[in-house]
Formats: sequence, C-alpha cells, structure tokens
Amino acid sequence: MSRNDDLVLDGHGETERLDPRTDREPQRLARPLEPVRLGPLTVPTPVMLSPMAGVTNWPFRVICEGYGPDGLYVAEMITARALVARNPKALRLCRFAPGERPRSLQLYGVNPAIVEQAARIVVDEAMADHVDLNFGCPVPKVTRRGGGSALPWKTDLLTEVIRRVVRVCEPAGIPVTAKFRVGIDHDHETFLEAGRIAQGEGCAAVTLHARTTAEYYGGHSDWNRIGELVGELDIPVFGNGDIWGADDAVAMVNETGCAGVAIGRGAQGRPWLFADIRHAFAGSDERADPSLGEVCAVVMRHAALLTEFYDGDERMAVHDLRKHIAWYLKGFPVGGQVRRSLMECESVDQVRSILDALDLARHMPARVVDKPRGRTRFAKKVHVPYGWLDSRTTNPEERERLFGDDPMDAEY
Ligand SMILES: Cc1cc2nc3c(=O)[nH]c(=O)nc-3n(C[C@H](O)[C@H](O)[C@H](O)COP(=O)(O)O)c2cc1C
Repeated sequence: MSRNDDLVLDGHGETERLDPRTDREPQRLARPLEPVRLGPLTVPTPVMLSPMAGVTNWPFRVICEGYGPDGLYVAEMITARALVARNPKALRLCRFAPGERPRSLQLYGVNPAIVEQAARIVVDEAMADHVDLNFGCPVPKVTRRGGGSALPWKTDLLTEVIRRVVRVCEPAGIPVTAKFRVGIDHDHETFLEAGRIAQGEGCAAVTLHARTTAEYYGGHSDWNRIGELVGELDIPVFGNGDIWGADDAVAMVNETGCAGVAIGRGAQGRPWLFADIRHAFAGSDERADPSLGEVCAVVMRHAALLTEFYDGDERMAVHDLRKHIAWYLKGFPVGGQVRRSLMECESVDQVRSILDALDLARHMPARVVDKPRGRTRFAKKVHVPYGWLDSRTTNPEERERLFGDDPMDAEY
C-alpha cells in the first residue's frame, strides 16, 4: 500500500438485516421531558429533525415544522470550504424560510481554520441561530479525507474544530452542538471521548447516532450506547437512530434517559411524525392517520415550496420532489406503473394530474405504518486516510495532506 492509498477496513462479519423493532405497544414516558436549552435557545419539545443532505432543505423543514412547531429542524450539512468560497449551491442550502426559528445550520469540514472561517460568515451575516457540527458522515468520499465519522478518532483535530467554532459563535449567542457516531468500528470507538471533548469545549448539546461508520445504516442503532453517553455527560444528549414512530421515540427516552430525540429517515414521507411525537411526549395516544388525499395535498404543497426554493425552476423542484413522492406514497397500494410515471414527471402539473387520479380516500395499511424506510445497509468497506488509525492525534505531515484535500463538495 502506498502513502496515497486509503486504509480500507474490511471483514466486519456483519450481516444485512432490517430493523425488526417496530410493532411496539403504545408507550408512555416514564418521566416528563423538560425543554432542552441550547445557550439562549429553548427547544420546548426536545425533538430534532436530523440533518439529511438532499432532504432537509427549507421546504421540507417548513412542512415538518408545521406538525411540531416547537422542535428543532436542522438544515443539511454545508461544506465549510464551499461556504467560504461562496459556492452558489452551498449558499442556497443556507437559506431559511421567512418564519423559521430557530434557524439551524450544520457545518462540515476537516480543516479547523476553514470551519472557523465558515462559522465567522454565519455569525457576521446573521445566517443562523444554531450551528451543529458534523462528525458523523460515514460516506467513503468524506471519511477517506479524514472527515465526518473518521474525524473524532483524531482527538486534537476534533478539539480544534469545536474550539474554534465555539469561540466564534458563542459570543454572538449562537449555540454550537456536535453530532457523531459510536466510532469507526467496534475496535475503534470514539463516542465517549468525543462527547467529553464536545462538552469541555463548550458545545451546548450532542447528538449520538448509535451506529459505527462500518455499520453505516445496517442493523440497529444501539441505544445502550446512547444511555452510556447520557451517563457520561452533563450537557443534553439527543439520541438518534431508528425512530420510525412516536412510540419508538418514547421508548428511546425511557431506555436511555436522553434529553431529546433526533429523527432522520423516519421523517421521510412522514412529516406528521413530529405531531405524533409531540402528542406522545405529552402523554396522548393521538396519532396521525392521513388519507391518501391528505398525503397528496402535502405532496403538492411540498412541490410549491420547492419551486420557490429553486427560484421558480419547476424542473429542478420536481426532480428534488421525486424521492419525497416515493417516500410519501410508500405503503399506499398505488401500483408500480403510477410510481414509475411519477418518477418521470418534469412539471408540477404532471405530478398533480397523476395524483388526482388515485383513490384518495384510502388510508395506509396499519402493517406498513412506522416501518423502516430509506437506507438500511452496512458499509461495504470503511475508508480512512493512510495511517489514520496508528495514532489518536495528527502529525504535521498528515495535517498538510488532509487540509490540502479538504473538499468543496462533500456529499452524504
Ligand atoms: C439521505 C441521508 C442524508 C443524511 N445527511 C446527513 C447530513 O447532512 N448530516 C448529518 O449529520 N447526518 C446526515 N444523515 C444522518 C441522519 O441525520 C441520521 O443521523 C441517520 O439517518 C440516523 O437516524 P435515523 O435512523 O432516524 O435515520 C443523513 C442520512 C440520510 C439517510
């Protein structure tokens, strides 16, 4: 292996399996949940829309927020270098809807100086009210550059990124949080140390997606690890991973003692999950059961908001909408042909005319509500930079290589 090659971790011996923890009995909170305080911000219902690249732009956030107005809805990750370079795509992702509060951005980067510059832009241009830092991305393109979920292995780098961002944001009243995974794999776990560093450097809260990089989206989020982190830290911990329905959220809080929950894939095509969770946290069994007609109305609203997001470019809006349509309709018996034609639509009118022809009175069959959706596989391989695991801190040569390679275009 040459110095320019990635280190590839392989042979974790894990099998593909879907999460069977569905079909829960209705759950009740064992103790009432307090609002979570993030510096000057208060999150009355401690539920967070977890950042999802390509998903949590403002149109989707606004739709989710409509069902749970007092949660935290985080934008997808913005690559620090792209923001510093004023890349138009990155700037579009930093936009918020007029009434969105708090405005929550996530930054990603490897080079502490660049992440600091990005944070400085956020502060100077009053772009957001909260900054989350991404140390959880498992995508090879990111981890092979030492970013995302590879980064917490290097404790000096993790400390420096958080320290610099907190130093810029805190005086402006912008709380900083950090999101990370359990580790690179079970031989290289980092979450307890990462939590201690985040707390020590002034993060207001942390989110733990309780899988390793190697686990990617396969198997289970191991909620025991969330409980361990809660026991370790004084700042609030948001538990994350495999919440598909409100009863999962309650179960996670009861099992782990976490201060709040973060929802990713469970919100895809189910923005009313935020209303369900709000009800469940308030001790009510009320759950949404939208008809197909109501779901289609949400799709059309989403189409209109996306058209605004893309400055009137309907084609871009509909292309973005396609994956959401697939999620919204998942579980409804609409037929393969309808699904295929929806995936070929180029205009909002085409989407509307196909949806109008459906049997809009139908409800989702109970057996598919709250079931896993979206990504569910293990990583084929984990890529980290050459020599990455040899030491817990970076050496000058490593930093030079990493920082020169800090990407403009990190993607989930
Ligand atoms: C399509 C997709 C994009 C994602 N993008 C991001 C991201 O930009 N930043 C981040 O911190 N996590 C990202 N994640 C991870 C989620 O925020 C979340 O941690 C993960 O999906 C586990 O939670 P869940 O089981 O509720 O989905 C992404 C996940 C998916 C499926």
